[in-house]
Amino acid sequence: MSSKTGDDWSPRQRSVKRPVLIAAAAAAAAAAWWWTDSAPYPYAQHWLLDLPLPFLTNRRLDALLAVRPGERVLEVGPGTGLQALHVAGGLGAGGRLDIVDIQQPMLDHVMRRAAATKISPIVPARADARDLPFEDGSFDAAYLVTALGEIPDPGAAMREIRRVLKPGGRLVVGEFADRHYVPLVTLLGYANAAGLRPSARLGPPLAYFARFEPPSGDAI
Ligand SMILES: C[S@@+](CC[C@H](N)C(=O)[O-])C[C@H]1O[C@@H](n2cnc3c(N)ncnc32)[C@H](O)[C@@H]1O
Repeated sequence: MSSKTGDDWSPRQRSVKRPVLIAAAAAAAAAAWWWTDSAPYPYAQHWLLDLPLPFLTNRRLDALLAVRPGERVLEVGPGTGLQALHVAGGLGAGGRLDIVDIQQPMLDHVMRRAAATKISPIVPARADARDLPFEDGSFDAAYLVTALGEIPDPGAAMREIRRVLKPGGRLVVGEFADRHYVPLVTLLGYANAAGLRPSARLGPPLAYFARFEPPSGDAI
């Protein structure tokens, strides 16, 4: 009885087997990269960020963030400004939106768009979400949309955002089922560890916004 060891393959079978093995190895490498890569979203693909995601609409963000004129608001990971330009428009002349991103080209992109639309109160800062360059209790509200899962330690980022929120402030997190998706149950764990309690949610589980607040009366 013969077994199909490497030497038993005919030349034709060998010529078929080799490309299949190479394709399988490439697919395994791609899958490993897909699930483990935590690099920030590449600026080279910034045009994709301008396509609105289903359910993660600015109207829903507004409903949970509820910004008021004159407030100081923080966005972490603005990308090309899909949400930033909209939120800044609601802050009025006395308000201010601080945007923090690990990639300078993303910040530059938002600022070019803001200049073109004459939306003024946007202040960029290049920084890591795990080490925000702000004093404790600086912000009335903060938000991040499809950014948390790109940050190497999302729990640390949640603690840092909570630190810079004023007592009574609010944080809105938007998540979509892409490869950096943070499921709601995981997010609730991060929030709980950071001392934030959930107060509202909009959207289906695979494309949701969730709002969190420090417990009432809680000083930072
Ligand atoms: C997928 S984009 C989301 C952009 C935008 N919020 C949107 O919904 O279109 C994620 C953003 O988070 C930024 N980011 C990734 N890791 C970060 C980190 N550690 N600190 C700050 N920003 C980060 C990326 O550079 C990118 O601009």
